[in-house]
Amino acid sequence: MPGLTRWLRTGMLLAAWAVCGSTLAQSSPNVPQGAMLPKDSVDAATFRGGLVYANYCVTCHGINADGNGRAARLYNPKPANLRMSDKNDAYLGLMIRKGGAALGRSEFMPTWEAELTNEQITDLVAYLRSINATKR
Ligand code: HEC
Repeated sequence: MPGLTRWLRTGMLLAAWAVCGSTLAQSSPNVPQGAMLPKDSVDAATFRGGLVYANYCVTCHGINADGNGRAARLYNPKPANLRMSDKNDAYLGLMIRKGGAALGRSEFMPTWEAELTNEQITDLVAYLRSINATKR
């Protein structure tokens, strides 16, 4: 059965290629194990922050972070347009941690410190910085 032999040979070649490829990737000093990005880079924090944002903030602030989430019309003042925020990182972190009421703003901006870890909050700030359209 020449067809089967050829098929088997191709399969073995592919397997050998896959094994060599993964061994090469593992032994390369610049490729972090099991991750696409080094854990502590700003890029990694921004990436993780985007995931947290998508889980907890989209309903009010919207998928584009422009303050037009599905629930936005329920609130006055509206959820902030986070792309246009003129606040610094410290303020953003405080707002996320403590919520609107604690900072004399709308009580409908919830406090997140019981819900999210410190890392998640820092990551959110990195994400918000990365999408900010003002030159701060
Ligand atoms: C239930 C609706 C709601 C949810 C959910 C929500 N927010 Fe808000 N947020 C608001 C409202 C309303 C304001 C406006 C407060 C004001 O102007 O007084 C606000 C304001 C803010 C501000 C202040 C921005 C500025 O420039 O002053 C930040 C930062 C913020 N939200 C971040 C977040 C993040 C991050 C999340 C997700 C973890 C989130 N919010 C989830 C309603 C929400």
